[in-house]
Amino acid sequence: MNKIIYLDAAASYQKSNAVIDARVDFLRNKYANSGRGICARAVDVDNMLENTRRVVADFIGANAQQIVFTAGTTDAMNMIARMLAGRVVAVSDLDHHSARLPFEQLAREIKVCPLNQNLDIDLNDVPVADVMVITAMSNVLGRAQDVKKIIAAAREKNPNVITVVDAAQYVVHNDIDVSAWGCDFLCWSGHKIGADTGVGVLYIKNPDDFAPVKFGGGMVNKIIGNDLILNNAPDKFEAGTLPLTQISALGVAIEELKKNRPDVNLVRYLYDELLKMPRVKILSPRDGVLVSFVVDGMHVIDFGAMIGVRGVCVRVGNMCASWIHKRLGVNGTIRVSVGGYNTIQEIKTLVQYIKDIIK
Ligand code: ALA
Repeated sequence: MNKIIYLDAAASYQKSNAVIDARVDFLRNKYANSGRGICARAVDVDNMLENTRRVVADFIGANAQQIVFTAGTTDAMNMIARMLAGRVVAVSDLDHHSARLPFEQLAREIKVCPLNQNLDIDLNDVPVADVMVITAMSNVLGRAQDVKKIIAAAREKNPNVITVVDAAQYVVHNDIDVSAWGCDFLCWSGHKIGADTGVGVLYIKNPDDFAPVKFGGGMVNKIIGNDLILNNAPDKFEAGTLPLTQISALGVAIEELKKNRPDVNLVRYLYDELLKMPRVKILSPRDGVLVSFVVDGMHVIDFGAMIGVRGVCVRVGNMCASWIHKRLGVNGTIRVSVGGYNTIQEIKTLVQYIKDIIK
């Protein structure tokens, strides 16, 4: 089989040597727990943790006290939904399951924010809600939402609305400045930007206003009788041992991503080639960062198998985003997404394989 062509960065990004080396170096030479020791090793780990927290904070325009390490976007969304349980929550059909299902479990009422004809959140029709969940970029359509304007529209309806941004796809392709957006919560996953699985970032604008939803070691200042005195944020939100090995390479992944974002020209090239193929129906917009499509008369799983045996990895199925698929009128799509490591030659090879498969 030819060398693998990996075109599924939106599901999970390939790891660079620098990220892998940082992890191995941590495991081999620097490993200890954080926040629990006073030996030199433990102090170095504490310093690594706090340096990485600062790098993450700078990356999204926050301060370090507002950055909580999580296991990923799903973990963060579940935490936020528990912190905000019992409220009226606005969601949209752009949401990934992880952005919406936790709220569907814990909200008092769910309202679905309409999409306009371009499948963007309709700024003219944002519902009145206590909480608004905003998917900054759909993992199926790949187009950035105007988060600042959506937040402004939500605040017009309710000045006290709490805004929650799922930036898992957006952060890969765009700079984020949480202070410019003014959102209350924002989260993303390390593995989608080239860091490892098992680590994510949760930004909380006013961490002192919220109580933790996970309890355990590392968050407690002292216990007096039945009174629990918690550490200050962010520690109070980080019960238990953190994914330190993953965190040790997160700063490296961020620095690399900033220098080498995925090249959107590869996506445009593919889009324009697919447009010429009669059986192909493209469902994502041309200005998206990925391409989602279906092939007339062919199940997406069959396509996935046929492209897979040629050594190409794309994602097929509903992308854990059932609502937008329903809106598009299909059960599943074929999605091609690129990382900073992909080349135009790989896309040209993909185009040739697609022509072979659907001829
Ligand atoms: N959310 C990931 C994707 O879009 C897993 O593939």
